[in-house]
Amino acid sequence: MIPVILCGGTGSRLWPLSRECYPKQFLPLAGSRTMLQDTALRLDGLEGLQAPILVCHEEHRFAAAEQLQEIDRKPRSILLEPCARNTAPAIALAALDALAGGEDPLLLVLPADHVVADAVAFRRAAKAAGELAQRGHLVTFGIVPDCAETGYGYIRRGEDLGGGAWKVAEFVEKPNADTAERYLASGDYSWNSGIFLFRASRYIEELGHYRADILAACRTAFEKAVRDLDFTRIDAGAFSACPSESVDYAVMEKTESAAVLPLDAGWSDVGSWDALWELAERDGDNNLLHGDVLAESSEGCLVRADSRLVGLLGVRDLVVVDTDDAVLIADKNCVQDVKKLVERLKGSE
Ligand code: GDD
Ligand code: MG
Repeated sequence: MIPVILCGGTGSRLWPLSRECYPKQFLPLAGSRTMLQDTALRLDGLEGLQAPILVCHEEHRFAAAEQLQEIDRKPRSILLEPCARNTAPAIALAALDALAGGEDPLLLVLPADHVVADAVAFRRAAKAAGELAQRGHLVTFGIVPDCAETGYGYIRRGEDLGGGAWKVAEFVEKPNADTAERYLASGDYSWNSGIFLFRASRYIEELGHYRADILAACRTAFEKAVRDLDFTRIDAGAFSACPSESVDYAVMEKTESAAVLPLDAGWSDVGSWDALWELAERDGDNNLLHGDVLAESSEGCLVRADSRLVGLLGVRDLVVVDTDDAVLIADKNCVQDVKKLVERLKGSE
């Protein structure tokens, strides 16, 4: 089994800590190691585990390589994308790389920016999913939903496949709010965790079937790739011609071979500051304070003070993130919209 670690996202809702030049997967957001390092380490002990393939933007090659080196993990390859084309092409490149070795391994596709509190439960689920993937299924890991989140994929369970898994009857990526409410109320749906397991050849077959254009562009971009030390530089001309699409829309919504296995392992995609606040251990006033912070009569706040002292007095549910060149002060209930600030910033560049 080869882990495919996707580290090409921007994590814009965690601005100003997460930046284009240093997005959240390369930061120690939920502990002492970076999210990428935690992603690699939580696999230790998984049977038949091989060295990981990393897929990231070429700008992040040194961060990716150094962070693996720090934890003494040698990657099989680090595939460098010259531009972002979302996850369907990123996974296709990894599958082509895996198949280039002459074998047809299982690929465990892992976003590098998720938290999984219970690594033992996670490895147990990955092992069970491996058996389904051997039989040709494209396995997703399902999370029990606790709200009508619209930023996730929703999976309706179909036929029982045994071993706690189901065939996917329906996969709907990012439904609107009304639809998400309906799915939640029905009790028939899980969230898609964004973690997948399948044979490399099965992904290539399904992508070729539903999005031959993406596969063709990725094949050319991979064939023309240049090896450079530990890196594989994907061809810029061919890859920029590839349509941008997520694996969820390109393959998972369409394939007849999807299976879902429940994952109960304290999963969070740490999409925003409130998610980080929720999953971390807080003090007696329900505050999550990091760095040099003085808090008085304040509750439910998250503060990161990386370079100077921050004082809080008589406030509730605030998010304060202080960095060298930017400060965020937000109502904790509005932090989903941090990306709006980032969009405005980009517009003014
Ligand atoms: N290499 C690479 N290249 N990685 C990428 C790219 C890319 O162009 N785009 C995104 N990624 C990485 C991100 O860093 C993240 O780790 C992962 O792929 C998923 O991308 P997101 O952009 O975070 O997807 P999402 O959160 O909107 O939705 C996905 O995850 C949800 C759960 O967190 C979907 O799979 C949803 O269905 C799912 O519910
Ligand atoms: Mg995500």
